Amino acid sequence: MFITFEGPEGGGKSESARWLGAWLTARGHAVTMTREPGGTVLGERVRALVLAADVQPSSLAALLLFSASRVELVRQIIRPALEAGQFVICDRHTDSTLAYQGFGDGLPLDEVRAVNRLATGGLSPDLTFLLDVPAEVGLRRRAADGAWNGMDARRLDFHQRVREGFLCLARDDPRRWRVIDASMTRDRVRDALIAGLPAVIVGPRENA
Ligand code: TYD
Repeated sequence: MFITFEGPEGGGKSESARWLGAWLTARGHAVTMTREPGGTVLGERVRALVLAADVQPSSLAALLLFSASRVELVRQIIRPALEAGQFVICDRHTDSTLAYQGFGDGLPLDEVRAVNRLATGGLSPDLTFLLDVPAEVGLRRRAADGAWNGMDARRLDFHQRVREGFLCLARDDPRRWRVIDASMTRDRVRDALIAGLPAVIVGPRENA
């Protein structure tokens, strides 16, 4: 099963992804954890490049850089792990490109979708958690934890479009998406993650 975590900055996405990975591992599942951009040698170099404060690529260049990282990640890590029957948990994936480069930067969504398809060879997540948080709250959290990057420095209205974009994507495909209010306590977010998993994974007792 291919699970992705998506959302604006500062929603606690990465921590939630790690927690769910550990939860599944503790129940005997094989889990591959990865992130975008990154996860491969090329991907990590693209990450350093695209998030550097002094680079600020144009939106089209950003689309192609994030996608180049994704090509390598899907081929080298995601597909082989899925074929081996593992869970794959990816911190950001194609929906981030739609939200940031599409809704945020205004690149045409059908073109972004076409590039996404090209990069993934048509692979799509089975389940996507949206850790939703208002843009100004998320950015404040990011500034407080010191994990500031070139993308965070964009204007507030950009981040607001990104957040609305994620919500719009989730509304369009409720079967795949689980929207979680990331301003809840950590325990409640974790309960919502488990509640969002298919019953066959959680098991009848824990689901009751
Ligand atoms: P990261 O430090 O991982 O941010 P976060 O902890 O919020 O995930 O940086 C990733 C940044 O790259 C983030 O600002 C979102 C952006 N991004 C895109 O703009 N397009 C994409 O396709 C991806 C994967 C990420």
